[in-house]
Amino acid sequence: MKQIIIITGAGKGIGKAIALEFAQATVKHEGFEPVLILASRTISDLESVASECRSFEAAADIFPVDIADPAQIEHLVSTTLERYGTIDCLINNAGVGRFKPFTELTEEDFDYTIATNLKGTFFLTQRVFALMEKKRSGHIFFITSIAAETAFKSSSIYCMSKFGQKGLVEAIRLYAKTCNVRITNVMPGAVYTPMWGEVPDAMKSVMMRPEDISAPVVNAYFMPQRTSVEELVLRPVCGDINE
Ligand SMILES: NC(=O)c1ccc[n+]([C@@H]2O[C@H](COP(=O)([O-])OP(=O)(O)OC[C@H]3O[C@@H](n4cnc5c(N)ncnc54)[C@H](OP(=O)(O)O)[C@@H]3O)[C@@H](O)[C@H]2O)c1
Repeated sequence: MKQIIIITGAGKGIGKAIALEFAQATVKHEGFEPVLILASRTISDLESVASECRSFEAAADIFPVDIADPAQIEHLVSTTLERYGTIDCLINNAGVGRFKPFTELTEEDFDYTIATNLKGTFFLTQRVFALMEKKRSGHIFFITSIAAETAFKSSSIYCMSKFGQKGLVEAIRLYAKTCNVRITNVMPGAVYTPMWGEVPDAMKSVMMRPEDISAPVVNAYFMPQRTSVEELVLRPVCGDINE
């Protein structure tokens, strides 16, 4: 059966791994026909992920979008509906971080982080949830972070945004459980992705990899419809590795 799946931040890191995991699930799950709507700001990344997904016989469509802009969110959702008629799954993965000591963070760092992680995630979820509420089915994932409940010294704005995302998850769950929509909060610790920039080898060797997150996400999607995996907490074996 066709499943229309929007993945934000699908061009790199964890979002890219989730797209590829869904694409490969066509082999493991008979009859699963994902249509992967790959969304981020960099078109070349999306083209390359789409072509990898298609190599597993999965349908992939690309949408250059900045989720910080509500007009672009509207365009993403309305075009998806025009082309495919419905949305079965939303992966709220797009996120940014500016990591500096508390006193060095600027207004621009604040606005940039909050616009994507909170404003963008909120308005995209609101738009998609309204559709799922009406049809009484769907699954929304939020890739938040362990920084949604643990503070780190160089991450004050990032932590604010992730604690805020967790607040959204908990509020939306109150609505979702009355209309058969599944909500999964994914809280990873350190994952080696482009978000980190240069990383010393010693740290790199203990960090998780994007596929360590994408596999449990896709497994949660394939749980029986009666079961909601509410939370996935994934950490490097050594625990949290930054302050
Ligand atoms: N890596 C970790 O250790 C870690 C741990 C816990 C949670 N997380 C969370 O996991 C998510 C993915 O992180 P990652 O490590 O994979 O990061 P990443 O490698 O930097 O990838 C982030 C993706 O999001 C896209 N993106 C960023 N801002 C966007 C916007 N405004 N509109 C549309 N797309 C946007 C980026 O593409 P463009 O720049 O081209 O738009 C990119 O494709 C984030 O929410 C992050 O907070 C990461």
